[in-house]
Amino acid sequence: MDAIDIIKTYKIRDLVPYAIYQLIILGDRLHSTAIFWAKVWFHGIEVRGPVSVWGRVLFVRFPGSRIIIERNVRIISRPLRYALNIYSQSKLRTMQPSACIRIGENVGFNSISILARSQVIEIGNNTMIGGNCQIMDTDSHPLWPPEARSYYPGSEHDASVKIGKNVFIGLNVIVLKGSQIGDNSVIGAGSVVNGRIPPNCIAAGVPAKVIRTMTGDCG
Ligand SMILES: CC(C)(COP(=O)(O)OP(=O)(O)OC[C@H]1O[C@@H](n2cnc3c(N)ncnc32)[C@H](O)[C@@H]1OP(=O)(O)O)[C@@H](O)C(=O)NCCC(=O)NCCS
Repeated sequence: MDAIDIIKTYKIRDLVPYAIYQLIILGDRLHSTAIFWAKVWFHGIEVRGPVSVWGRVLFVRFPGSRIIIERNVRIISRPLRYALNIYSQSKLRTMQPSACIRIGENVGFNSISILARSQVIEIGNNTMIGGNCQIMDTDSHPLWPPEARSYYPGSEHDASVKIGKNVFIGLNVIVLKGSQIGDNSVIGAGSVVNGRIPPNCIAAGVPAKVIRTMTGDCG
């Protein structure tokens, strides 16, 4: 239904609140995107084209590390703009000079958190990531011995994460260190990805397993 049909179909009492909501969203995008550009300059983030941002994105970039955002990325970091996030802020953080986060062209993500402690986290072009997803290259603490967990980083166990092109990640997904998700695949809501998910499939569960392989034009 286009805007003209909506105006013809619904009463003014219904139209006004929704029109005001749309105006607020537009204003928020312009304002948030301007603040985003100031923040990327301040934090030394590499942004390679226009982006659309709603809300405030949290960046923490360790000196020498890289956070790269390609063109036409859409970042939501505010509950108003998106129906399904509980925790609204999007965060990108690196913690060692060797770390790198690369977000591909046309990627859209909603209220997610990415931690590259010492390795590379890469998200391929056109991928969509649903609310409250957490992606990490590290367990953050060594597993053994127990007394070392509080002081020894254990970065030698960190492993890069690669999410392919045209991937669709549902709500509340955790992607653990060393994971790879193949091009065009779908990850079901609430899944924990640990290891390799092949291309062109739907995977879901804890840990995520392939539940269907897509074939033909309609999957
Ligand atoms: C994964 C998903 C795409 C599968 O949808 P579908 O193709 O219609 O699959 P079905 O509902 O037929 O389920 C197929 C099987 O997978 C299981 N399954 C589906 N989604 C699952 C999930 N998220 N976690 C675990 N198992 C799941 C079903 O229980 C079913 O198992 P069964 O065959 O043993 O009965 C969908 O369930 C999903 O999680 N969508 C993500 C929604 C979302 O987060 N959107 C983001 C909004 S921004």
